[in-house]
Amino acid sequence: IHARSYLVHGELLEWDGPCSEVYSTISSTETYAPTLLGSIPTMGEAEALDALDAACKAYNKGKGAWPTMKVQDRIACMERFVALMIEKRDEVVKLLMWEIGKSLLDSEKEFDRTVDYIYDTIEDYKQLDRDAAKFEKHDGVYAHIRRGPLGVVLCLGPYNYPLNETFALLIPAIIMGNTAIFKPAKHGVLLMTPLLEAFQKSFPKGVINILFGRGRAVAAPIMASGRIDALALIGNSKSANALQAQHPKSNRLRLVLGLEAKNPAIVLPDADLDLTIDECLAGTLSFNGQRCTALKVLYVHTDIVEEFNQKFAAKVDALKFGNPWDAGVKLTPLPEPGKPDYIQELIDDAHAKGAKNLNAKGGERTENFIWPAVLFPATKAMRVYEEEQFGPVIPIVPFTEIDEPLDDMAASNYGQQVSLFGKDVYTLAPLIDTLANLVCRVNLNSSCQRGPDVYPFTGRKDSAQSTLSVHDALRSFSIRTFVASKDN
Ligand code: G3H
Repeated sequence: IHARSYLVHGELLEWDGPCSEVYSTISSTETYAPTLLGSIPTMGEAEALDALDAACKAYNKGKGAWPTMKVQDRIACMERFVALMIEKRDEVVKLLMWEIGKSLLDSEKEFDRTVDYIYDTIEDYKQLDRDAAKFEKHDGVYAHIRRGPLGVVLCLGPYNYPLNETFALLIPAIIMGNTAIFKPAKHGVLLMTPLLEAFQKSFPKGVINILFGRGRAVAAPIMASGRIDALALIGNSKSANALQAQHPKSNRLRLVLGLEAKNPAIVLPDADLDLTIDECLAGTLSFNGQRCTALKVLYVHTDIVEEFNQKFAAKVDALKFGNPWDAGVKLTPLPEPGKPDYIQELIDDAHAKGAKNLNAKGGERTENFIWPAVLFPATKAMRVYEEEQFGPVIPIVPFTEIDEPLDDMAASNYGQQVSLFGKDVYTLAPLIDTLANLVCRVNLNSSCQRGPDVYPFTGRKDSAQSTLSVHDALRSFSIRTFVASKDN
């Protein structure tokens, strides 16, 4: 696919400037060497500022502007969009597999989950609107309180959920009456091309503007303009901080950020071992560990660590590797070209500091695929203990006192979720209270995850800012405004 169209001012324009190639690591020849998939425009400051102008105009143009349109009209646009989007399911699912190597099952889930997310957001928005119809009266003053948009949002999504997480930002932002400029992630970019027309046909001019190019070239001038009211980004804190710093009034910018995490599992001596191992397997290796919610370190009590290690390592080596469309495939090549080398560095560093691979296949390489390595014992001296690996390497830390994982979590820069495995309620209850003050979600006898999407998705410290979910995202992208009067 040689994508050339982009969406600005409600028009699908044709790009005739420089382009960059898009590669896949999936190959029908099973060499897993990069395969050319197509190309996308490499845009720059001029296009970025044009898109910004379009979004600002659509927000500010007065009567009939997007934020002042009737709620039911905005909802109708969104419904039109989702209906057109559904027609593109097969194309988008195929591109998810080719571009980022996500399995067929997970690619279909990503698409369907996104459709559900949009419908649920529409329903939640209707409820929000019904609530806003009520008047309040305090001390003789009547108030009609409602939720209004923030303004213009710059929206940047991640490569691991290029459709779902990007839309989890964009959709609530738009339906609340904001306008947006959106640049897809570097990997998972071509899958936006079948959807461009759906956006163009569904929304008024300038409400959504879609650009392609490098983040630095496109996002930087938009931030530096100071005309953005919110930065919505799922990715890493380094990029979020750099972008935020470019805004001349960064302290008044609304930040809706989903960032790194180092979610631990804590396995207590009385845990149901088979269930725990299955949950830890899915938690660490679903989509090769490329999830912010992935389990990234396993603390296992010394009483059971030997049995855990042996069974867990055997299950890792029994996973099926292949192309995303192969039945039952769990492990696939990684879309980021430098990722296997980085994972290898973490493995080498851990080996040099005393850890061993528990699984025979750990670290085996085929081009951009690397077999997950289970490392034991992991210690504080190792890079994999601290760094968010975002890939297939699993450190296991043995512990005897619960304070050991708790102290680590308290000292960590991250605070998204934890998984706690055990049975005794008198042990679990006080622990849950402590853990809930260190992270934002405690998963009892189950792995960490974002969904179901009605639940709040956020984190403490460097893991997040604001809250996403069907319900919370509408609040994250809005502000309470009201009309007050002494007369009813
Ligand atoms: O990468 C971070 C995602 O929010 C993970 O979502 O738990 O649904 O896979 P998930």
